[in-house]
Amino acid sequence: MDTSAFDVIIIGAGAAGLMCAIEAGKRGRRVMIADHMDKIAEKIRISGGGRCNFTNIHTSPANFLSNNPHFCKSALKQYGVQDFIALVKKHRIKYHEKKLGQLFCDNSAQDIIDMLLEECARANVTIQRRTKIQHIEPSENGFSLETDKGDFTCASLVLATGGLSIPKIGASNFGYEWAKKFGHSIIPPRAGLVPLTFDGALLERCKNFSGLSIEDAAISHGKTIFQEGLLFTHRGLSGPSILQISSYWREGDDIAINLAPGVKISDFIKGEKQSNPKQHINTAIAAILPKRLADAICEDQGCAGPVGGLSNAQIEKLSAAINNWHVKPSGSEGYRTAEVTLGGVDTREVSSKTFESQKQKGLYFVGEVLDVTGHLGGFNFQWAWSSGFAAGQAV
Ligand code: FDA
Repeated sequence: MDTSAFDVIIIGAGAAGLMCAIEAGKRGRRVMIADHMDKIAEKIRISGGGRCNFTNIHTSPANFLSNNPHFCKSALKQYGVQDFIALVKKHRIKYHEKKLGQLFCDNSAQDIIDMLLEECARANVTIQRRTKIQHIEPSENGFSLETDKGDFTCASLVLATGGLSIPKIGASNFGYEWAKKFGHSIIPPRAGLVPLTFDGALLERCKNFSGLSIEDAAISHGKTIFQEGLLFTHRGLSGPSILQISSYWREGDDIAINLAPGVKISDFIKGEKQSNPKQHINTAIAAILPKRLADAICEDQGCAGPVGGLSNAQIEKLSAAINNWHVKPSGSEGYRTAEVTLGGVDTREVSSKTFESQKQKGLYFVGEVLDVTGHLGGFNFQWAWSSGFAAGQAV
């Protein structure tokens, strides 16, 4: 048997590539998966704080950003949340719902990696690590690949090289570059699910409060709003609500922050004025926000002394500073810390059912390399599983 001839070669042994390999292998296809790194599936290992938020029970097409919003529907139908949960259960991996439908491993993300590698072994998938793909050439029956580990051929080629986030664990622009060579358009990539940075006085404010968190803040950009935790950092703002909005934010835009979405501050202070007029305004606000932050906001807005002494104008100013704080981030922390890459291979040139390229027969794209990006909360892995599965049925 020719050991360099495969039915399917998948480039990129991340979540999507491994899932595609398993499914193709189960169909009896001879599959090789090649990765340039020694350690594969590294993003799974570091995900969810080491516990891998592997899916979200509320997954729906509305949880994904794309220039082609309907594209994700077919794959999510072919392989949904319950299908992946069934696989996790089959491997007796213990998991729990943390919040908002987010499912995490009880023990470690390594459980998910071990599960995928065991499935690969059962499906006779060859995993080729530390392999640099030097050239891809379409041929009459598929593709020829030149690598630093020798030459290989395949009938179907899958690009599963992910996005640009976290270059030090293997991210590269390989998928985009080869997609372009095969005539595909690329929606310009940008960092998503990423902390936002500030400069000037805002940066000083954030630095002062670095490490301080608010459990429940509502962040909006245009009509998009996310209500989750917020964290001050030495470079700006982070926490789930900021990461979520970062995928919608563009350079130069403002975001509006409601530090106390459950309380209309003007009504609250007016109420306190009636019931407890001698109470110090800082004490009243410290019942809602962390004390240090409450003190700083009161000082900034020129509010001091008993609540009863505040004018309506002062109350409105304070209320706006807490319920409707407008800030203009100067940037984001970029691919160094971003969880995902927005943009990617334009899905209008890819079959939503099989993930085959409409430009090059036998070429497929799965996972994050495509212009489909999930919200924070397990949606990105679900996309990797669903797209990998769908292509795995077709390659
Ligand atoms: P992925 O990036 O996983 O894999 C791509 C593979 O291709 C890598 O193994 C890489 O080495 C390889 N590769 C790249 N260039 C290559 C080349 N030139 N030649 C050969 N191989 C190459 N999502 C979620 O749903 N829940 C979560 O808890 C988290 N947590 C999280 C934490 C952190 C810190 C990050 C950075 C990301 C997350 N994510 C997440 C997002 C999630 O990890 C991501 O969306 C998926 O891993 C994407 O899967 P892919 O298989 O498409 O790419």
